[in-house]
Amino acid sequence: MVKICCIGAGYVGGPTMAMIAFKCPEIEVVVVDISVSRINAWNSDRLPIFEPGLEEVVRVCRGKNLFFSSDVEKHVAEAEIVFVSVNTPTKTRGLGAGKAADLTYWESAARMIADVSKSDKIVVEKSTVPVKTAEAIEKILTHNNKGIHFQILSNPEFLAEGTAIEDLEKPDRVLIGGRETAEGQKAVAALKAVYAHWVPDDRIITMNLWSAELSKLAANAFLAQRISSVNAMSALCEATGADVAEVAYAVGKDSRIGPRFLNASVGFGGSCFQKDILNLVYICECNGLSDVANYWKQVVHINDYQKSRFVNRVVSSMFNTVSGKKIAVLGFAFKKDTGDTRETAAIDVCHGLLGDKAQLSIYDPQVTEDQIRRDLAMNKFDWDHPQHLLPSSPTASKQISVVWDAYEATKNAHGVCILTEWDEFKNLDYDKIYQNMEKPAFVFDGRNVVDAEKLRKIGFIVYSVGKPL
Ligand code: NAD
Ligand code: UGA
Repeated sequence: MVKICCIGAGYVGGPTMAMIAFKCPEIEVVVVDISVSRINAWNSDRLPIFEPGLEEVVRVCRGKNLFFSSDVEKHVAEAEIVFVSVNTPTKTRGLGAGKAADLTYWESAARMIADVSKSDKIVVEKSTVPVKTAEAIEKILTHNNKGIHFQILSNPEFLAEGTAIEDLEKPDRVLIGGRETAEGQKAVAALKAVYAHWVPDDRIITMNLWSAELSKLAANAFLAQRISSVNAMSALCEATGADVAEVAYAVGKDSRIGPRFLNASVGFGGSCFQKDILNLVYICECNGLSDVANYWKQVVHINDYQKSRFVNRVVSSMFNTVSGKKIAVLGFAFKKDTGDTRETAAIDVCHGLLGDKAQLSIYDPQVTEDQIRRDLAMNKFDWDHPQHLLPSSPTASKQISVVWDAYEATKNAHGVCILTEWDEFKNLDYDKIYQNMEKPAFVFDGRNVVDAEKLRKIGFIVYSVGKPL
């Protein structure tokens, strides 16, 4: 039986390994993590992450050929293939702070692999890492010169949260990068054989290590760039009376451009787009490519602009002040169908409104009160470094309430901000909401999910991103 171990039981490690176990009953997969509470949750009825379809897959394999353990060293030592799927956040201090990837977790995982290994292994970069990381990892893996051979592969993950299981089951492509030596190609073939259990041959792409590492950063940069492009258009639409949905439809009909990923919004969030672009910017700068770096920086700049534009719109529409006014925030996760709030646009929007002394009543179907309060107490980039958490400001925390129902959130509110596109927000009883709100009642739809005309008929003043007022 082939033994696989994955270091890191997070949003990527958990679902990807569950899918491998599900599709390859003859492979034993152990997911390990230094976080005991995370491992306990994977072994419980309440998984640590919310992802449609994940529970079913885990239920089929857990205890058979899928295991979750905090005995990291034992399982790494026993495995033939070791995936490393630890977090690679943005560095918060020192050289490259605010841009470069922090490879501390990766380095300590690599040192541990080197220390505990007693047999040859294939080590797979699953985390998103800067191009050329494999070279550094190779040096770390061989630092204690025990005569054990390691082959490093790059196998970046392209799943999106909320659709992880679907993406893993039917990936657009699986990318495997390896050394162009005979041993490197043998390792590539071994990993390819795992995916070949369910992914068609023409969707498994093999290439050199550096191309694979860079392709992941490039793919995220291109995706985020599309959103910033359509969001930049949304500002121009509002200024001219064009409708961004119509413009995006017309543009997306060009088969060279395509229709997906062109939804204007309050701004992209999630743990990766911003961090990966900043990482790309840093790599360009280190290679003396300042014009290229500046080009990609603009994608993040427009995203920040979009979030502050949204806050300014709320405040200016509500007679230039939201001080003491109750504002309902519907949705806090960075997108629907996930409880993940890392880098969610809601954090910046709420900070903006709190700065103007609004009273926020926040509702999200998947995010706990604890998480929301923690997020709003953090500085930018702190989400992955809880040890740097600042104490929450007592005044700001009195301005926030977290409720478990959209009707409760909107009761006596002056305005409603929709920040996540949860399906349930489309079908709320807006007549009832209107009756219970202060007048004039405003709706600021940061996701263009409501039927603005219908709401205007009820009496709301409605602002939708990139649409005529
Ligand atoms: P995560 O924070 O959810 O999970 C990482 C896990 O690694 C944590 O549970 C942490 O405790 C564990 N860990 C850290 N150091 C460890 C060590 N030395 N030994 C054992 N466990 C350790 O992160 P994630 O969202 O799963 O992302 C992981 C990587 O995958 C990142 O590089 C990210 O950029 C990339 N990625 C993420 C997504 C996504 O949708 N979240 C998609 C594609 C790629
Ligand atoms: C993204 C990529 O889609 C994945 O391919 C990649 O593997 C992953 O990042 C990663 O490397 O972490 P994810 O961040 O989970 O996945 O979710 P997306 O669906 O890409 O959404 C990201 C953000 O963009 C969300 O806030 C979403 O609401 C926003 N978005 C997306 C828009 O504002 N408009 C769109 O048209 C699409």
